Amino acid sequence: MNDSHSKMPIFAPISLPIKRRLQTAAVLFWMTALATCTTLFFYLCTIKYLWPLIIIYLLWILMFDRAPEEGGRCFDWARRLPIWRHYAEFFPMTLINESDLDPSKNYIFGYHPHGIISLGAIATFGSEALNFSKRFPGINIRLLTLQTNFTFPIYRDMIMALGLASVSKGSCENILKMGPGSSIAIVVGGAQESLAAKPGTIDLTLKKRLGFIKLALVNGASLVPTLAFGENDLYELYGADNKSKTYKVQQAMKRVLGWTMPLFNGRGVFNYEFGVLPRRKPVHIVIGKPIHVEKVEGSPTEEQLKELQKKYIDALLGIWDRYKDKYAAGRTQELQIVE
Ligand SMILES: *[C@@H]1O[C@H](CO)[C@@H](O)[C@H](O)[C@H]1NC(C)=O
Ligand SMILES: *[C@@H]1O[C@H](CO)[C@@H](O)[C@H](O)[C@H]1NC(C)=O
Ligand SMILES: *[C@@H]1O[C@H](CO)[C@@H](O)[C@H](O)[C@H]1NC(C)=O
Ligand SMILES: *[C@@H]1O[C@H](CO)[C@@H](O)[C@H](O)[C@H]1NC(C)=O
Repeated sequence: MNDSHSKMPIFAPISLPIKRRLQTAAVLFWMTALATCTTLFFYLCTIKYLWPLIIIYLLWILMFDRAPEEGGRCFDWARRLPIWRHYAEFFPMTLINESDLDPSKNYIFGYHPHGIISLGAIATFGSEALNFSKRFPGINIRLLTLQTNFTFPIYRDMIMALGLASVSKGSCENILKMGPGSSIAIVVGGAQESLAAKPGTIDLTLKKRLGFIKLALVNGASLVPTLAFGENDLYELYGADNKSKTYKVQQAMKRVLGWTMPLFNGRGVFNYEFGVLPRRKPVHIVIGKPIHVEKVEGSPTEEQLKELQKKYIDALLGIWDRYKDKYAAGRTQELQIVE
């Protein structure tokens, strides 16, 4: 991986075709969206005439707007903006579907691995960059993310326009009950898995993640395993070794703050050696066959949970085996379920 990388020039050539510039701009836009929206908000706050509107907006966010918990506020035109196509072409990303999905059912897509920031999940589920609605007609998808993301002014409305909603249990159930085809996508491994997003590997945090399994049983929603080959190759990761200082600091931070961040490096806008932009490496996202789940009345038993979890993990390992030689030829180890 590093070898091919070291042959690249350090700086981006001046004469790059416009297409590649648009791709870089699109990825940069997404990477800096939170900072840009927040800066814009503070700028608007300096304009006195806008204060009444800003106060109404903030009150509305804090007290009245239930949308993040009730399916979000999705706009099809926002998901279809050309920027998302440029974004996916940057890597480039491709979507492979192993079967059709019956639009009269509800689905829970599990996306793995988390990677540093789940760039493939946005292309697959959070926009029409990869033609999701053409692949799966009638499936109305919501990509779920942490509730805190819906407290940032402007940014919250932008991500809701893309069909994002809160990952709380109530929010999941609200969406699954919205009718035929209503479905959710969850990046199951979360922040813990991002700490293991090392190029050439896929180490998944799945053993104790039973929340989405239970959700499937209680709601009779089918589980759809989704494996993104290459998501972990987009950044260099520091502290992946569990004996390193970085790893220990991150684990301590997680215990105390309940939150941590991977230490990573990608490329910059004008250089290829350092920065927060991901590297241009292909990402192949395979959406597997659905696992049909019979709805259980009341609370699922431990056995029911374990049985479905095993089916799910086997299906995920099946995808790995079918595609690893094609899409993970440069792997340094096999896919592992580490926690
Ligand atoms: C993938 O989706 C397309 C569009 O719905 C469909 O035509 C194709 O048969 C699907 N592929 C498989 C393997 O089912
Ligand atoms: C999405 O569909 C459009 C129109 O059919 C097509 O031109 C484009 O190549 C598709 N994109 C992908 C990533 O499949
Ligand atoms: C939501 O917030 C978390 C950190 O709080 C961040 O890692 C994640 O990328 C955010 N998701 C989106 C879609 O903005
Ligand atoms: C650290 O990682 C190694 C190899 O992946 C593993 O065998 C070991 O159990 C891990 N140790 C801890 C404390 O997680």
